[in-house]
Amino acid sequence: MPDSKNTPKKGRMLTFEILKYNPSDPESKPHFEIYKIEETPGMTLFIALNIIRESLDPDLAFDFVCRAGICGSCGMLINGKPMLACKTLTSHYENGKIQLMPMPAFELLKDLSVNTGKWMEGMSRRVESWVHSAQEHDISRIEKPVEPKDADATFELDRCIECGICVSSCATALMRPDFVGAVGLNRIMRFTADPQDERTDEDMYELIGDDSGIFGCMSLLACEDHCPKKLPLQEQLAYLRRKMSEVGKR
Ligand code: SF4
Ligand code: FES
Repeated sequence: MPDSKNTPKKGRMLTFEILKYNPSDPESKPHFEIYKIEETPGMTLFIALNIIRESLDPDLAFDFVCRAGICGSCGMLINGKPMLACKTLTSHYENGKIQLMPMPAFELLKDLSVNTGKWMEGMSRRVESWVHSAQEHDISRIEKPVEPKDADATFELDRCIECGICVSSCATALMRPDFVGAVGLNRIMRFTADPQDERTDEDMYELIGDDSGIFGCMSLLACEDHCPKKLPLQEQLAYLRRKMSEVGKR
């Protein structure tokens, strides 16, 4: 959580310390740049970074799309914690000092911009993130109804925005790049909850029943602490571990 929730002091100066590095430029070396800008009421890091880029450093790279905590593209380390920059107010930082670094565990593109899409695509293929059904689907017919409780369970886990914050918070993910992460394990639970997916527990075990899957989780649960959508990751991972342990004993 941010330092405090003070209301912004109009006109105070903010000091940003931002990691700059372009891995595709052989001349570039990782270093911090300092930027000072004046705070305005209600300023988010989205606003602050745009002011810095427009007025101080046109070369600064960072990602935003929706500015509303929906697209998941603006994750970064803010004073050491992975958070969505568009949902973070500068007023939360009492001393006005904000350090920004790119999220670890993902390919660094430049400065604060990382390639979460490439990682998420690999994870999606790994957990076969689509409904598996042997039934023929006739799109001209009315869809089969789903029980409201099943729809609720599926939609609850479908709230994930693939921001990658759980992955960059996770000690296992930082140590082993093949770890599927809370986002991947949550995806398994999403399809387990979906009555249209015909995969069995044994099928899921084949996908995540090892140390790069559910058994790699060390239960430190920084994923749940930092998830901006407040997904019930702790509960889901505990349930999945128990279920997969039972399958492993058969
Ligand atoms: S589980 Fe939460 S932290 Fe992880 S990718 Fe989804 S929304 Fe982001
Ligand atoms: S810009 Fe979309 S979540 Fe932050």
